[in-house]
Amino acid sequence: MNLRSVRDIIPQTKVILRLDLDLPFDDTNRISDNSRLLKSLPTIQLLLEKNCQILIIGHRGRPQGIDENLTLRPVYLELMTLLEPTGENLVSNIFLPELNLEQIDQAFVNNQIVFLENLRFWPGEEANDPQFLAPLNQICQAYVNDAFAVAHRAHASITLWQHLPAFYGLSFVDEVEHLQKLVDSPASPLTLLLGGAKEDKLKHLTELTGVCDRILIGGKLPHFVSLSHPKITIATLVPEGLDIDAETIAKFTELINSSKTIIWAGAIGFYEDPNFQNGTEKIAQAIAATNAYKVIAGGDTAASVEKLNLKDKFDFICSGGGVLLEFLVNQHLPAWSNN
Ligand code: 3PG
Repeated sequence: MNLRSVRDIIPQTKVILRLDLDLPFDDTNRISDNSRLLKSLPTIQLLLEKNCQILIIGHRGRPQGIDENLTLRPVYLELMTLLEPTGENLVSNIFLPELNLEQIDQAFVNNQIVFLENLRFWPGEEANDPQFLAPLNQICQAYVNDAFAVAHRAHASITLWQHLPAFYGLSFVDEVEHLQKLVDSPASPLTLLLGGAKEDKLKHLTELTGVCDRILIGGKLPHFVSLSHPKITIATLVPEGLDIDAETIAKFTELINSSKTIIWAGAIGFYEDPNFQNGTEKIAQAIAATNAYKVIAGGDTAASVEKLNLKDKFDFICSGGGVLLEFLVNQHLPAWSNN
């Protein structure tokens, strides 16, 4: 895969930068894990060093229209706090709640970073309407994508490479390189562990049986899965239905122990509630103890492993669960032109 790196961008360009801004929030509406911002800091710093002006775009959650609960303002504030200690002077910046050509143009007069509100507030983003972001193309001369977690979504902010000279962020390129190696030559047996709450993780289940030696299914997903296949083991749950039971922990651990590659996407129980953390904890410890090549996929899984102080036991952390599953079955994603 030949992705042109952001390193090749000409200094003093005005760029649109697509980031993974969909961060996990806790019950008190605070960001619980800022890894997705941390992974993109080197790309942002590189652009700042090149004296580029940056229009940051992205999404948060799955809003139905404008929804103040899913504003990107706290993510913007977090990013500016992260950037602050790195520069001699605070990078001039502004948050814009509307997608308005004149406002953006005006904002660039005095600011190096302009940060736009959640693009999913407007229907054009998910409809992949080329007109939706067309005003931005008039202001900016290049597009940089460092949002690997949404590389599988054919949305307007992901397919902008069709309209502007396109470059890929440092973290994006790194993630593609790691996953390409994983797909090309995985040590077998390869075990895929699926959890979490997003039902769309099961979209490619049939194809995944062709790629993986075993698929273990936990989290909320046993409620949705209907496929029966010799490679698939579906968890049985505790009576409340919010965690896997002891029998499943034993069964999954046995399969994990004999694996050479393990990919884990999604918490095994309802991890936010301390009463239902047991399955995730036990499975995380079992995976961490193996000598297999270990990959975590997705922000929530990474956050739960971080809480258990086991993050450094894993070989690679991919920023998105959905995108990793898509990549395993099909490397031609909407985010790049050579597909
Ligand atoms: C993620 O959180 O995995 C990405 O932001 C993708 O979100 P989506 O599944 O709502 O497109």
